[in-house]
Amino acid sequence: EQDRINIAIDGPAGAGKSTVARKVAARLGYIYIDTGAMYRAVTLSALQSGIEPGDLERLTELAGDLKIELSPGEHGQTVWLNGSDVTDAIRSREVTLRVSEVAAVEAVRTLLVDMQRQLAIRKGIVMDGRDIGTHVLPDAELKIFLTASVQVRAARRYEETKHSHQVSVEQLEKEIAQRDKMDQERKVSPLLRARDAILVDSTNLSIEQVVSQIVELSRTKMAEAK
Ligand code: CDP
Ligand code: CDP
Repeated sequence: EQDRINIAIDGPAGAGKSTVARKVAARLGYIYIDTGAMYRAVTLSALQSGIEPGDLERLTELAGDLKIELSPGEHGQTVWLNGSDVTDAIRSREVTLRVSEVAAVEAVRTLLVDMQRQLAIRKGIVMDGRDIGTHVLPDAELKIFLTASVQVRAARRYEETKHSHQVSVEQLEKEIAQRDKMDQERKVSPLLRARDAILVDSTNLSIEQVVSQIVELSRTKMAEAK
């Protein structure tokens, strides 16, 4: 039995983090944790309660009262907000357009980071987000910074959403670039490659190629951790 490790996967929107993290976790028998889903759940709740992300006092109070749970589902992870299944609702365009504002609020981050660290106390976790390698799990044995060109990321997202005919690929690209910029420029734990993170550029890689590369790196780290 090899020793279990923790794996942190960070990177910009649409790089493939959740797709790849879920598959890596399945292959290793690890638990996958999508931290973006938590920021999305807080955002959904704020929108439902008519709270603006700029209203720090009410937002902080709201976040403190929320019960967010993640459970393994058929296609990835089911997300529960105060007992309701919000797995689909947190992916809405409204939430996507506002989530980076909510995620820039320090009090919200402090609450969620605490939860994330609690979930990773026992090793054997694959966690994806923006600040996992830099801040949430700085001791993770394997850190990946997964990226791809913004054009490819927008095109992949477009493929996922085109049935709904909501937005053009050009518009999606603009929105992704804007969200990346906010995530990179915020004061608290911005999106940043950790010094010890391995850069994986998936622009020209298939999902399977990225997954096997990360699984291989994990096996090396597990052997070292032994
Ligand atoms: O899946 P997608 O790339 O669209 O986004 P996500 O991973 O669901 O994250 C949504 C947003 O939550 C990001 O744009 C960040 O603003 C925020 N986030 C964060 O600040 N820190 C994390 N660890 C994860 C997400
Ligand atoms: O979590 P993140 O926002 O980084 O990306 P995602 O939600 O996993 O979305 C990435 C999309 O690109 C999914 O539709 C994947 O099927 C697709 N894709 C990928 O993830 N990796 C590749 N190497 C190629 C395509």
